[in-house]
Amino acid sequence: MGSHNPHPNRRVIVIGGGVIGLSIGWRLAKAGCAVSIYERDCAGRSASWAAAGMLAPLAEVHLEEKALLRLGSLSLEMYPEWTAALEADSGMSIGYRTEGTLIVGVDPDDARELEHLYESQQFLNLPCDWLTGAEAREIEPLLSPKITAAISSPNDHQVDNRLMVHALIAAYRNAGGDLHEIAPVEKIEIRGEKAYGVWVDGVLEDCDVIVLAAGCWSSEIEGLPRNAKPPLRPVKGQILSLQMKSGLNLQKVLRTTRATHPADVYLVPKHDGRLVVGATSEEMGFDTRLTAGGIFELLRGAWEAVPGVYDLPIVETWTGLRPGSRDNAPILGATAIENLVMATGHYRHGILLAPVTAREIASLVLTGKTSEIISPFQLSRFAH
Ligand code: GLY
Repeated sequence: MGSHNPHPNRRVIVIGGGVIGLSIGWRLAKAGCAVSIYERDCAGRSASWAAAGMLAPLAEVHLEEKALLRLGSLSLEMYPEWTAALEADSGMSIGYRTEGTLIVGVDPDDARELEHLYESQQFLNLPCDWLTGAEAREIEPLLSPKITAAISSPNDHQVDNRLMVHALIAAYRNAGGDLHEIAPVEKIEIRGEKAYGVWVDGVLEDCDVIVLAAGCWSSEIEGLPRNAKPPLRPVKGQILSLQMKSGLNLQKVLRTTRATHPADVYLVPKHDGRLVVGATSEEMGFDTRLTAGGIFELLRGAWEAVPGVYDLPIVETWTGLRPGSRDNAPILGATAIENLVMATGHYRHGILLAPVTAREIASLVLTGKTSEIISPFQLSRFAH
């Protein structure tokens, strides 16, 4: 496994200016490193912008993925302190909301799915309450009368991911970080199992450490040898937002758990009155087109849970590309190439995992040591 010499005043290049790259850059710049982020587009405008901002470690993870559940739970615990630090360093709010989440079943079949989820949450000692449909409607009166049962997950919180992008850019810059936008990295300069810098606009920018945090574009960058290419693919999500109004204003995050058709949806109310409804999950390569079917399924799923959405104006529709690795867990840590560190492949969990990723990757860059928290997520797990 490649390594590097720890030193606090390191020159670090981060490839990718999404929430992961910005969070790592912010932390390293605060620790005294000279950090440059190179972003192919505008910072935070890809998966970070497309996300819904839910902070729910168990929601999109299988119970068997213990290391990932632990990573998500650790990051969730970090959120109050992280939010306070980010808001102080940026002077901006990130819309952290703690009203919690209701996971609802629409049909009797869904109640059985919910029971499994409830057992998993209890097994993991996560706080949760089983509710009848009537009890759920007492908490969120806009829920459909068809809802048969629900789980209340008070610890599943949310942030406004778009506000978080703005805050991270400001905090990173305030800490002295350099942000280069519309500056795609053409190639990583690697000679003899060691990384020396990156090529941007025909110029070699040298550094002590490179952190590859370019989401689903991470494996597209030239120069990576086979043993340092992260196995990533884009997983398309279509998503939309509605404008809530008086009398049609949700407080909690809602998720449906459908045993059969239609697919699950989530409804995430934001402080600015938007209700974000997502998301499809499609293996379509780098295709980012919206489809009638995708938007139809989202609206149908949302309408079945909350019939009142029928009357709400549509504010925006968009797509995002989640960076999914071969096992859908992130790729974190040192690689076979000296001075090349990975922080990519966060798939559905980039917003949730930003605090823990930043802390652990910054510690690796500063000390040269891989913590046991991220050791299960190293690129080397794909070697065999
Ligand atoms: N975590 C939400 C999504 O990927 O759709």
